[in-house]
Amino acid sequence: MAERVSVLGTGYLGATHAAGMAELGHEVIGVDIDPDKVARLSAGEAPFFEPGLPELLRKHLDSGRLRFTTEVAEAADFADVHFIGVGTPQRKGEYAADLTFVDGVIETLAPLLTRPATILGKSTVPVGTAARLAARVRELAPVGDEAQLGWNPEFLREGFAVEDTLRPDRIVVGVDTAGPGAVEDVARRVYADAIGRDTPFLVTDLATSELIKVSANAFLATKISFINAIAEVCEATGADVVDLADAIGHDARIGRKFLGAGLGFGGGCLPKDIRAFMARAGELGVDQALTFLREVDNVNMRRRDQAVGMAEDMVGVLPGARIAVLGAAFKPDSDDIRDSPALDVAGKLHLHGALVTVHDPEANANASKVWPTLTYVDDAISACQGADLVVVATEWKQFRELDPVALKGIVAHARVIDGRNCLPVQDWIDAGWHYRGVGRYAS
Ligand code: UDX
Repeated sequence: MAERVSVLGTGYLGATHAAGMAELGHEVIGVDIDPDKVARLSAGEAPFFEPGLPELLRKHLDSGRLRFTTEVAEAADFADVHFIGVGTPQRKGEYAADLTFVDGVIETLAPLLTRPATILGKSTVPVGTAARLAARVRELAPVGDEAQLGWNPEFLREGFAVEDTLRPDRIVVGVDTAGPGAVEDVARRVYADAIGRDTPFLVTDLATSELIKVSANAFLATKISFINAIAEVCEATGADVVDLADAIGHDARIGRKFLGAGLGFGGGCLPKDIRAFMARAGELGVDQALTFLREVDNVNMRRRDQAVGMAEDMVGVLPGARIAVLGAAFKPDSDDIRDSPALDVAGKLHLHGALVTVHDPEANANASKVWPTLTYVDDAISACQGADLVVVATEWKQFRELDPVALKGIVAHARVIDGRNCLPVQDWIDAGWHYRGVGRYAS
């Protein structure tokens, strides 16, 4: 059954969710305070790079099931189900999450709810937030108890956001045990398509649903830092972390996914989520339980400094060295440079006096806003022209497929750091490159 749905906040999460809900047959209105974003979305243009999203937006702007506005009142008027997809960034100067946007949405929306409505929060929030917001909604909504709030964490990965929205691997709905209890039914109707395909549908209390999301991200971050820590030991012993990860990954209890050693994790979720999780544990008096996440963070940040050390090792002295950094986005198929290891390494090399030229297939524009002092070029070949060192910092397909023989002809010195262990090592060595990976082979 088609529901009337609003999505408040149209960033990476909200815009994709809005288009995905329309694709599932619902009638959707997306709301954002940024008029420029609303104008672009209304014209069928995604304000960021996400494969498949522009097509989906245009399809449903045309089908009439999707529209965008800056007015929360329009959403309150139109929809019965309201998703919250606004950001919860790291607070300036602190580890804790900044809840200004989530609180702002509730304070604006709830007083406009004059008929029964369900709010489903998707943003990642510190445990305890949803219960507080549920009470606030009941207090502010003219319809009182018939305005309900549940939490429905989002697990989508950038680069696969459309696929993850349409075909999630699980659906989690946290319900307010203090409320009248229609949230589960509403969620079942909204996600009927996925539930019909036997997608696991898990109903929990609010606190558990909030913790599921941050625990999943903390686990993924831990897995990456685990393999990066082992990579350090590999480097000290001449062992190969990729062979090691393949071997331990065959153990079904461990699994090979997220054992990719490299420059580590970045993006808008993992780094800030583990920090907010530690901050919240501190407030709850159980900070010791999550002390290990501090080490997960340390291993992750150390990887970036080690890449700079490796570069210095290879070129001799960094000041004046010409370095091509291939990649600025935190991962391929994204133009997101939030907390990007690639851009961090490029910036650090620049601060150490290297002459850094960056190329990213999609993220040059975003990167140049944060690091205007770096040089940006439109293709990998131009970036590598005359370089003393090439650093592959994001594993875009086009970098993995670079021809080491042709590239050798245009660089000044055939030296490469494979910061994502993504290159065919033997081909590069056979072509005469001096190769260094992360936790593996050096030549
Ligand atoms: C993550 C979670 O995967 C997602 O479920 C959650 O909803 C939001 O946060 P995302 O930020 O899109 O999604 O990126 P993800 O694919 O998880 O990668 C995070 C970072 O880890 C990237 O910088 C990536 O390069 C790095 N990574 C990933 C590794 O360094 N090694 C790996 O083996 C895997």
